[in-house]
Amino acid sequence: MFSLFQFLRSTVFTKIVMAVTGLMIVGFLAGHLLGNLLMFSGPEKINAYAFGLKSLGPILWIVRLTLISALGLHVWSSIKLSNRNRAARPIAYQEKKSLKSTFASRTMMYSGLAILFFVIYHLLHYTFGLIQPQTYFDNSYTLKSGEVVHNVFNMVVAGFQNPFIALSYLFAIIFVSAHISHSVSSASRTLGIHNPKYLALTSRIGRALAAIFLIGYLSIPIAVFSGIIKPACDNTEACAAMKDCCK
Ligand code: HEM
Repeated sequence: MFSLFQFLRSTVFTKIVMAVTGLMIVGFLAGHLLGNLLMFSGPEKINAYAFGLKSLGPILWIVRLTLISALGLHVWSSIKLSNRNRAARPIAYQEKKSLKSTFASRTMMYSGLAILFFVIYHLLHYTFGLIQPQTYFDNSYTLKSGEVVHNVFNMVVAGFQNPFIALSYLFAIIFVSAHISHSVSSASRTLGIHNPKYLALTSRIGRALAAIFLIGYLSIPIAVFSGIIKPACDNTEACAAMKDCCK
C-alpha cells in the first residue's frame, strides 16, 4: 500500500508543494501591488498604509514567516523536481523540444533564480535600508493624525530616482512577469486540471496576471523616474538630497 511516507517523498507531493506555494506568492504579489499603487495617491496614504501594516505586530510576523516558508519550499521543490528530471533523462536532448513550450516555460528555473536574488536585494533595500541608508534612516513623515512614521513614500522615490536602481527593478519585474505568465497553467496542471478547455483558460489567466503585474509594478519606477511622482516636501536631509524636492 502507498504509505504517507512514500507520498511525502513522491514527485506528486513535490509538485503540489510547488503549485500551492507558487499560488501563495502570487497572492502576496497581488496584495503588494495594490499597496504599492498607493504611491500614486501621495505620501499620506502609502505612509499610513505602511504604518498600519507595521502596527499589526505579531500578525505581520506570522504572515512574513508564512511567506518566507512558502518561498523556501518553492525553491526546494523546484530544485528537487529539476534534479529528478535530469536524473530521469541522463542523455541530454539532441534537439530542443520547444514545439509546445514557450520562452517563459523553458526559462522558469532561470527567471526563478533571478527573482530570488532580486527579493534578497529588495529586502536589503526597502526592508533593512542597507542599499540607500540615507533615505531609510532619518526619513520621517507626520501623518494627519499627528503620528510620526517612516517616510516610505520618499524612500521609494529616492530609490527610483537612481537610474541604476530603476533599471534593476525594470529587469526584475520583467522576470517576475515572465515567471508568472507560465506559472498559473503549470500549477493548475499539477493540481489535476487536464481538460484542454480549462487549461487554455488558466493559461490566459496566467498571461493576464503577468500583464497586470508588469504594467502595475513598472508604472511606479516609470512615474518616479519621469518626474510624475515627486518627493514629499519636508525638512529632512533625505528630501533635500533628492531631485525635485519641494518643487
Ligand atoms: C515597483 C515595485 C516595488 C515596490 C515599489 C516595492 C516596495 C516595497 C517596500 C516599500 C517594501 C518595504 C515595506 C516596509 O517594510 O515598510 C517592500 C517589501 C517587500 N517587497 Fe516589494 N516592492 C516592489 C516590487 C516587489 C516585487 C516584484 C517583489 C517580489 C518578487 C516584492 C517583494 C517584497 C517582499 C517579499 C517584501 C517584504 C515584505 C515584508 O517585509 O513584510 N516587491 N516592497
